Amino acid sequence: MTSDFEVRLATEREVHAVQELDSASREDGFQHYNKLFRIYPEGTLVAIDKDTVAGYIGTERLNSKDLEVGTSSNFKRSMPPWDHDPATYHRPDGNVLYILGHAVLPDYREFGVSHKLITDFLSRAKRDESIDQVAVIYNSRHPALRDPLKFWGGYGFAPLLDTYDPKWKHAADKPVDGGIIWARNV
Ligand SMILES: CC(C)(COP(=O)(O)OP(=O)(O)OC[C@H]1O[C@@H](n2cnc3c(N)ncnc32)[C@H](O)[C@@H]1OP(=O)(O)O)[C@@H](O)C(=O)NCCC(=O)NCCS
Repeated sequence: MTSDFEVRLATEREVHAVQELDSASREDGFQHYNKLFRIYPEGTLVAIDKDTVAGYIGTERLNSKDLEVGTSSNFKRSMPPWDHDPATYHRPDGNVLYILGHAVLPDYREFGVSHKLITDFLSRAKRDESIDQVAVIYNSRHPALRDPLKFWGGYGFAPLLDTYDPKWKHAADKPVDGGIIWARNV
């Protein structure tokens, strides 16, 4: 593993590797990277080491109003569950970049791949005048991330406290997880 991996938008061929990595890193995850690529080709960033997709960030666009969970909206009405049809939730003109998936291959972890992906993602969001906010749902029973303040907080994300829902589920037919949106302006 070298440190000079490249972060860029995924090609159609790389999206298959993204799907494999997502499916390997969490159960019941997002199953539609191919479709997401067709409707929003700018949505998936990858970190490439030679020919290997070492990590990715998958995003779609939402509206700021969708983040008003707990006040004028709720998770079910406006925020996607882990697996969802991007054609239903992605808003082509939305001003929020919503992170629907992010993972790094186990062999590439702790080398700064995630850091490079997230900082590149934030720079792109800042350069895009149509984007005002970035957001992610934090699952209170997240299997790997125990400390969202260290991870997302380190990149300027803050919890939107009104959005905390102890009954949020990552999938309708699964046990309760509890969820809260973390977001930041760009
Ligand atoms: C979480 C994950 C993406 C980190 O990838 P990585 O490339 O190893 O991370 P980096 O080496 O770039 O580390 C970036 C920062 O995140 C921190 N970090 C890494 N893994 C972490 C974890 N599991 N929990 C909390 N913080 C973590 C690092 O300490 C580092 O912070 P520092 O610079 O202050 O030391 C990776 O472990 C993974 O894919 N996990 C499974 C999927 C997952 O949990 N995705 C998270 C969001 S949905």
